[in-house]
Parts: sequence; C-alpha cells; structure tokens
Amino acid sequence: MMVETPVIIVNYKTYSQSVGKKSVELTNIIEENAEVNWVVCPQLADLRMVSEETDVPVMAQHVDGIEPGSNTGQVLCETVKQAGAVGTLINHSENRLKLSDIEKIVRICKEKGLTTIVCANNPKVAASAAVFDPDFVAYEPPELIGGEISVSTAKPEVVAEAVREVKSVNEEVGVLCGAGVKDGEDVKKAMELGTEGVLLASGLVKSEVPVEVIKDLESGLY
Ligand code: G3P
Repeated sequence: MMVETPVIIVNYKTYSQSVGKKSVELTNIIEENAEVNWVVCPQLADLRMVSEETDVPVMAQHVDGIEPGSNTGQVLCETVKQAGAVGTLINHSENRLKLSDIEKIVRICKEKGLTTIVCANNPKVAASAAVFDPDFVAYEPPELIGGEISVSTAKPEVVAEAVREVKSVNEEVGVLCGAGVKDGEDVKKAMELGTEGVLLASGLVKSEVPVEVIKDLESGLY
C-alpha cells in the first residue's frame, strides 16, 4: 500500500501516553477526526493491535536488515508486514543505523512491498539516503526533536536545502520534515518549503487536547 500525500505521520515513540491500549485510543481519536492522510507509528509490540483495531495506516518505528533465520531480539520486515504495518521508519535519530544497514533495509522492505521512510539529520545525509530510492526521506534536526520550536520555523532554509538535495539525487523520493511540529502553522510552512508532509511525536502524543491538536495540524494542509 502506498502512503498518500500530503501526510501527517505520528511517531508514538515510547511515550507512556501511547503504550498498549492507549496506542489504540489515540489512534481512534485520529481516525474519528481525520480529514487528511495520517499514518501512526506505534511501538512494535502494539503494531498488530493498532492495525487490527483501527483503520489508520500503521508503520513500524524500526526494522532490522536481517533475513529470516538465526537472529535474536531483532525484527524482520516480514514480521511487521504480517502484523499489519504498511511501512517503516528507518534510521530515526533515536535509533541511528549504518549506511550499509539502511541500504539493506530499504531493499528488503521494497521486496516485501513496505513503504520506506529514511530519517536524516542533515541535507547531506538526506541526499545519501535518497540514493537507495526509498519512498520518503524525512529531515529531522536532532536538536529540535521534542522541543517547542519547529524545524520549519527554526531552519526553513535547511528544510528547503534538504528538498533540493534529495530531488537532485532522485526526483521520485518524497521529502518530509519533523522536529517540534505542533500546529497548523508549522505544517503550512513545511509544505511551503516543498515537503510532502510532516513527522511529529510529542506535540500530539503528549497533548491533553488531542482533538484540538489534530484539527490545528490539519488546518496547515487546507
Ligand atoms: O519522529 C518524529 C520525531 O522525532 C519528532 O519528534 O516530538 O519533535 O515532534 P517531536
């Protein structure tokens, strides 16, 4: 399944507000209020439950570049697919990988028909990731993750540069950005800079008024 753009992707990370049953509750709130394309990334152990109990597309936060066989404590692309995931984040700043592993994971995911989103901490890394022909590259400056100021406000010229770098390598790769995104204004700016969507976490997962945040974020796409 391809992810439709523009898209708002919520990484549930390991926040206590999105663990277990709460991951389904939050996803239900998104489903009930969504008027644009959303994707959620619950923890691996919650993937199947969220995919079975809601209609919002789910992605894994990480998979390993391994083949079926003698591996322990790792996760196969095939397993997240069977759990209902339509794709996966790869190389998130909080789970960084070697370039050779990124290449392998993208390749295996493509074979399995999973959508790939490779995260990159700067435009050069974004360009390197684009060489592997993932579906998306997501530019996220680590120092802004979990903060109050969004990437599109603090580093608009770097977002634009990431878009240029990625497209100069591979026109087909979509560009997303994330870090500190929390309202419609942040989303609007990100789109104006040439991205096809945003990746966020704390702004929604930690919010006590999720419906308001969902509507506010979506307003940036109208
Ligand atoms: O994967 C998205 C993420 O790293 C951004 O986090 O909390 O800044 O929205 P946050």
